[in-house]
Amino acid sequence: FNTLDTLDPRGKRVLLRVDLNVPMKDGVISDLTRIERVVPTIAELANKGGRVIVLSHFDRPKGKVVPGLSLQPIATALATALGKPVSFAHDCIGPDAEAAAASLQDGEVLLLENTRFQPGEETNAPDLAAALAKLGDIYVNDAFSAAHRAHASTAGVAEHLPSYAGRLMEAELAALDAALENPQRPVGAIVGGAKVSTKLALLENMLEKVDVLAVGGAMANTFLAAKGYKVGKSLKEDDMLDTARQIIEQAKAKNCELILPIDVVLAEDFMAGAPTAVAAVTDIPDGWMALDVGPETVALLKTKLAGLKTLVWNGPLGVFELPPFDEATNAVAQEAARLTKAGNLKTIAGGGDTVSALRHAGVLEDMTYVSTAGGAFLEWLEGKVLPGLTALSTTLERTIPV
Ligand code: 3PG
Repeated sequence: FNTLDTLDPRGKRVLLRVDLNVPMKDGVISDLTRIERVVPTIAELANKGGRVIVLSHFDRPKGKVVPGLSLQPIATALATALGKPVSFAHDCIGPDAEAAAASLQDGEVLLLENTRFQPGEETNAPDLAAALAKLGDIYVNDAFSAAHRAHASTAGVAEHLPSYAGRLMEAELAALDAALENPQRPVGAIVGGAKVSTKLALLENMLEKVDVLAVGGAMANTFLAAKGYKVGKSLKEDDMLDTARQIIEQAKAKNCELILPIDVVLAEDFMAGAPTAVAAVTDIPDGWMALDVGPETVALLKTKLAGLKTLVWNGPLGVFELPPFDEATNAVAQEAARLTKAGNLKTIAGGGDTVSALRHAGVLEDMTYVSTAGGAFLEWLEGKVLPGLTALSTTLERTIPV
């Protein structure tokens, strides 16, 4: 990719795609991470004299103007994080957006309205891509977390303008490269989550790439059932038992050490304060459900971590939202953090509720890298090609130095 290292944005209108799809509750942003993580790119472009026109989607308004899903409140948060004013245009294309973009001075920042208010965004309509491109001289994509979408603002627009990867995009790709493409070995993965069916492609790709694969979460119950253990009333997918058996066989064939829980924390009911018990996976009583992996599994995972150089983490080991079923995730995350801080392990985490689980464990800041991406991180782990990245790399040949 072209990066900002080779771009002189002075006096140029820089159309910058970021991901401001932040969690919001009752009009209040509950997590500023995505905003904070794009600040370096915006600040660098503005400080170098670029006229920065920021584009983003927010939520899923499905091509309609939904006033509650306006990006306007986020302009204020962005200005605070950036420490400079951010003006706002009530559309992302058309005369108002064009006038606002044209009147920007060097170093100024403008945020455009939610790209998903446009019906052509998600269909990657050529006329929308062209209308967006009209606003800028250069396109910078800093939205790795939206790179799995082939949308007008993430893919189509790159065909019209010299295109560059922003600093966050660079950092995300470098981290994923260090995790999976060129890792220091041995490399391990912890994959949690409720269902084998939604993580199947990911598990299969992990078997190819990692030396040790630890499976946790309710997904592990399906594997235990596939091995013939009784799992009581634990959540499991009966139609995935054969698939789970195949994964176990594939792991052997690929020389990937597959680690399943050896003990579990059980409850009869899924509710706060319900009595709990610990049992070996050979002894799960009828009527009980596994809600976390047990202390012996935690000890085993800690031992395995000590032998790794790189760890990829996606998904909690148990129902961490409901203590005490957060204990295994907390303990293993804290051990990964300790090894990472000591310089013995690189830990790269992301996707789904991994970030909240690590924050809950108090170790989010101690990881080597935490991705801002949910779905895009998962698709990368699945080995999929991300259209936003393809658009950036295929425009490389056409990009003229500016
Ligand atoms: C995300 O939150 O993962 C990205 O912003 C993409 O959002 P989407 O799943 O609505 O495309």
